[in-house]
Amino acid sequence: MKTSTTVLITALGLAGALAASGANAAPNWAASPAKPVALFYPGQSSWEWALTTADHPGADKFKGGKNCFQCHDGDEKNMGALMASGKKNEPSPIPGKPGSLDAKVQFSHDADTLYVRLTFAEGAQPNAHQDPTYATKVTMILNGGGVPEANRAGCWGSCHDDSAGMASAGGSARTMYLGKTRAALSRSGGGDALKPAAALDQLKGSGYQLEYWQAHLNPGAAAVASNGVIFDKRTETKPTLVSAQASNAGGTWTVVLSRKLNAPGAIPLVAGRHYTVGFAIHSGHAAKRFHYVSFERSLVLDQGAADFVAK
Ligand code: HEC
Repeated sequence: MKTSTTVLITALGLAGALAASGANAAPNWAASPAKPVALFYPGQSSWEWALTTADHPGADKFKGGKNCFQCHDGDEKNMGALMASGKKNEPSPIPGKPGSLDAKVQFSHDADTLYVRLTFAEGAQPNAHQDPTYATKVTMILNGGGVPEANRAGCWGSCHDDSAGMASAGGSARTMYLGKTRAALSRSGGGDALKPAAALDQLKGSGYQLEYWQAHLNPGAAAVASNGVIFDKRTETKPTLVSAQASNAGGTWTVVLSRKLNAPGAIPLVAGRHYTVGFAIHSGHAAKRFHYVSFERSLVLDQGAADFVAK
């Protein structure tokens, strides 16, 4: 009796917290099925690494037109175990770090908002002591189709060898960026030399920009949302356009990120257009490269052929 009262009070408390955070009417999850998305530990496997034949056996075929996920669907668990162990592309492994994580992902939309829901268990995560504030961060990268490398490689379109913590960073705090914003790209990345302003404006005008949606999480606390864009660097958008809600039951997180279909400065979300998404989860107070990532997935609204059809 006592237990069920506690459960009831907790459930009411949660509902109250959701209402207070301004949640919209619940989306119709039943209309769009949840699909498995495997996330794996990538270490320092950058865009430049992936495109270098001497480093990556898939480099030539990728350049020839085959996308990352087409080759690696089902490999994620083994890849993650290899890199989390420090045997490949990871010079400072976190002892005991699991190599992969299985999520279920679902999209839905109503008249004015797109929602994405991720459900996953983190397993036994060692504390990396890299992010003192949040135990877990859940991120989606969204591409409106204007970033060709992200159409084919998802998050890798923004993951360069000289960003903070990567092999060629040399202590730099450089964030994620898109390659075409740089005057030149080499095996070690693009450095800090940008294209002229007019060329950057033209790239931006053509939709060459990614968006990220993020939830910052601690068990038992309300989720904190942030979002932003990735172009010549990662820039947080203020005020925040994205909402986040999360709950943790017995170690399983359910996280919902959402934003208006049309928001100032954001990629318009419309039926009939093809989007690419990629997911990242930082677990165990991890930061930067010490996360789990997915290969690219396609998304459409209402109808069309894609990994996810949001209804
Ligand atoms: C033509 C198929 C193919 C494509 C396309 C491809 N890869 Fe690979 N990738 C491979 C092979 C083969 C290996 C080596 C696996 C091994 O040695 O067992 C590999 C290894 C890797 C590894 C190291 C982990 C490991 O298991 O060795 C990473 C990380 C990786 N690929 C990422 C990517 C990314 C990112 C892309 C897209 C930019 C990509 N791959 C595209 C075939 C491919």
